[in-house]
Amino acid sequence: MADKKEALLTIKGLKTYFPVKGGFLGKATSYVQAVNDINLTIYKGETLGLVGESGCGKTTLGKTILQLYKATQGEMVYEFKDGPRNLETLTGKDMDEARKKIQIVFQDPQSSLNPSFTIYQSLSDPLKKFGVKTREERRKVIGDLLEAVNMRREYMDRYPHEFSGGQRQRVGIARALCINPELVICDEAVSALDVSIQAQVLNLLKKLKKERNLTYIFITHDLSVVEYISDRIAVMYLGRIVELADAKELYENTVHPYTRALLSAIPVADIHHKKDRIILEGDVPSPMNPPSGCHFHGRCRHCQEICKKEKPELKNYEINGRDHYVACHFAEENIKNAVKNRTEH
Ligand SMILES: Nc1ncnc2c1ncn2[C@@H]1O[C@H](COP(=O)(O)OP(=O)(O)OP(=O)(O)O)[C@@H](O)[C@H]1O
Ligand SMILES: [Mg+2]
Repeated sequence: MADKKEALLTIKGLKTYFPVKGGFLGKATSYVQAVNDINLTIYKGETLGLVGESGCGKTTLGKTILQLYKATQGEMVYEFKDGPRNLETLTGKDMDEARKKIQIVFQDPQSSLNPSFTIYQSLSDPLKKFGVKTREERRKVIGDLLEAVNMRREYMDRYPHEFSGGQRQRVGIARALCINPELVICDEAVSALDVSIQAQVLNLLKKLKKERNLTYIFITHDLSVVEYISDRIAVMYLGRIVELADAKELYENTVHPYTRALLSAIPVADIHHKKDRIILEGDVPSPMNPPSGCHFHGRCRHCQEICKKEKPELKNYEINGRDHYVACHFAEENIKNAVKNRTEH
């Protein structure tokens, strides 16, 4: 990543709530608070890993950035070539421009490929829409893309069911890249694949990022994958970011009790933190009725009175001169312990 960080997308106070209907005339009686006050900057050229247990709002955040869900509150300012604009307020041509710049790769590429279309037919439509007019031109672009994802050009005339899982995922990546996006959201893009195929696809994503100057938001619940691919990692819990730092920094100095519990569960022998396994008890509470104060307090071993009452803000604690954001009332104490533990072992 470049030394000087340039923002690509700045998210401020973002909330995405889903109404739960059931009242008189189908009125909303309550809301699923899936994304609950997120502040986050995505820098040009980085891979930002987004991790957290199932249901913590990762996909909702990705889909809100893509404008597939409407934000309930907040701003998402994207740096277009001619200046910054809020994604939420775009219309017409500007909206098309944003749609072109931000793409997604899903866990199950089958859901984004029409089973009765060949790969050429599936990829042809977006290319037509964005100005690749003749059939020959489109065949050339699609052939080049397939080669870029390590597949043969001729495969463009095959149907999705004729591919293996790993190949289909590579087609999904080609589909996301066909209109030259800047920001690619990979939502559990390798989670369904065998470990050896996972590694191939991860390396492919790394290669494409370099060649095409891409920026990635890499969503996963797999903490061993995220360390390999990410420059920075944001840890989400029940709609909020609880810890955010460079990947290496986060693994070396894990501060938030939730992140510690997640990392302690990785089944890898040489992880610095793998000393005591911290068992996370209970499920993630319902986002329809999130706990007061710190959302994590009911499952936290270090919970105190203040945690039940006051929401901890996400603050920068700069550890050894490196940015390290944590939302915990006892972050300073935890930092001392993290650094102490590391020097002792
Ligand atoms: N379209 C929707 N309508 C209503 N509720 C939704 C919708 N999409 C997601 N939710 C709810 O929002 C919360 C966050 O879901 P989300 O899919 O963003 O989680 P996630 O972190 O991506 O989980 P996973 O790791 O399982 O993919 C969940 O409680 C989910 O049930
Ligand atoms: Mg998800």
